[in-house]
Amino acid sequence: MARITAGIACSHIPALGVACDFDKVAEPYWAPAFAGFEWTRAWEAEQKPDVVILVYNDHASAFDMKIIPTFAIGCGERYSPADEGWGPRAVPDVEGHPDLAWHIAQSLILDEFDMTVINEMDVDHGLTVPLSMLFGKPAAWPVRVIPLAVNVVTYPPPTGNRCWALGEAIRRAVESFPEDLNVQVWGTGGMSHQIQGPRAGLINREWDTMFLDKLSGSSDELRRIPHIEYLRETGSEGIEMVMWLVMRGALGKSARELHRHYHVPASNTAVGHIVLEPAD
Ligand SMILES: [Fe+2]
Repeated sequence: MARITAGIACSHIPALGVACDFDKVAEPYWAPAFAGFEWTRAWEAEQKPDVVILVYNDHASAFDMKIIPTFAIGCGERYSPADEGWGPRAVPDVEGHPDLAWHIAQSLILDEFDMTVINEMDVDHGLTVPLSMLFGKPAAWPVRVIPLAVNVVTYPPPTGNRCWALGEAIRRAVESFPEDLNVQVWGTGGMSHQIQGPRAGLINREWDTMFLDKLSGSSDELRRIPHIEYLRETGSEGIEMVMWLVMRGALGKSARELHRHYHVPASNTAVGHIVLEPAD
């Protein structure tokens, strides 16, 4: 049977993708941001996941004000990098896993999560930057990816509680897929950041650290954080962290921390990264 073996969270800051694409990773400004991913790159090379369910948000690339799915799952064969205004990133296409994706879509919908099914779309930095951070610049991504898009751009985004419950349902879906697959769930975005208005550049290290601390262990306290707390404590874009809760929910009752990285600043954002495994 398929099984979820790990959960990874990772900021998806566009500037990290630019640094990677234009070989600036070793420059003094960027080196500390990338250094914290070296452990995970080596670990991923050993883990060799077959599939990553990559929870991310689209930034008006595939979706815009014409259509705003709260939760969408990619069931296609492949996805190209989106043109976000400067041409598509020069990174490989993302290969999907339609059989597992359709199985998950069916399981989630029968489990009362009314997913939007996407067969064709381009994927933006929300999805491709975490792949770059974890795998560098390969000729082809070493893993198949099931994109799972969450609306955190246009209010109202889903609650943290609903995201955690979606993760729990994803675990049930994966564990009922008959093929023997090593599946990871990644949550992306965050950490504290605000990119506009008088509080632009807001970073809240203390709150971010609290959030990282509470991802491991058996408490599910984080699922009850209301939207207003994300806004107040982490800035207008900190709400992206509800996507980390999909990942955490998918790991089961208890999770163990294997690795953590926190760095300020990259662009005007706190870089957060954590690797967890199920501990039940
Ligand atoms: Fe984002």
